[in-house]
Amino acid sequence: MGILWGTIILLCVVAVLRSEGSEPPQTKNNVPRLKLSYKEMLETNNLVTFEGLANSSAYHTLLLDEEKGRLLVGAKDHIFSFNLLNISKDKAQIPWTASPTRRDECKWAGKDLLRECAHFIKVLLPFNQSHFYVCGTGAFHPVCSYLEVGKKPEDGVFTLATHVENGRGKSPYDPKLLTASMLIDGELYAGTSADFMGRDFAIFRTLGKHHPIRTEQHDSRWLNGRSG
Ligand SMILES: *[C@@H]1O[C@H](CO)[C@@H](O)[C@H](O)[C@H]1NC(C)=O
Ligand SMILES: *[C@@H]1O[C@H](CO)[C@@H](O)[C@H](O)[C@H]1NC(C)=O
Ligand SMILES: *[C@@H]1O[C@H](CO)[C@@H](O)[C@H](O)[C@H]1NC(C)=O
Repeated sequence: MGILWGTIILLCVVAVLRSEGSEPPQTKNNVPRLKLSYKEMLETNNLVTFEGLANSSAYHTLLLDEEKGRLLVGAKDHIFSFNLLNISKDKAQIPWTASPTRRDECKWAGKDLLRECAHFIKVLLPFNQSHFYVCGTGAFHPVCSYLEVGKKPEDGVFTLATHVENGRGKSPYDPKLLTASMLIDGELYAGTSADFMGRDFAIFRTLGKHHPIRTEQHDSRWLNGRSG
């Protein structure tokens, strides 16, 4: 045991020494980089800047679709699709906003019209060969829909279904809140908040052929209690 700890500590010390000693600027380009700051990228002069949303940096959700060579991005009121090989080439975007009625209701409830009462995309998951499942906050009224991308990259399909589903227990109401979700065998498992106030956090199972279920309300120890 002592030898093991000794080895681990030694490795850590070596790692620290190396990371401290290995960055003279002239050798920078030869060392594999783990981090690249925005400033450094600008200095390389071959940076293409994406200026998609004029007044928002709310790009909440990223999904890599390697099969089709695309990066999907869920943002404020929009879903973007970028070409992985050349981000400037054939990028596509779909606007998806909350209705004026929803936005008004959100504003009357005391929320900020620009920063909260919009449709922030929070969930973007592969659904089947041709579709993704997408959910967003919908101005504090979560909604979901299906994004069609076609079966092959050549299809060039990128359209959102007009049919909208209830997004409660799938996306949070509040864009500030985080959510984690997975789609397995057609069922969506989501850890999210399911109320306007952002107090009711739980894990939900929705979609698919079973009845929706969720963990107990207002009991943060529910999972701990059962895992022993
Ligand atoms: C962005 O903000 C500026 C200044 O607040 C405003 O004039 C402009 O209309 C906004 N643009 C959009 C697209 O909302
Ligand atoms: C990327 O695409 C843009 C727009 O089609 C084109 O102007 C540019 O040359 C491409 N860059 C590369 C590296 O292929
Ligand atoms: C994928 O799911 C969508 C939405 O339910 C459906 O319309 C489509 O036919 C499905 N595609 C395949 C290839 O199963």
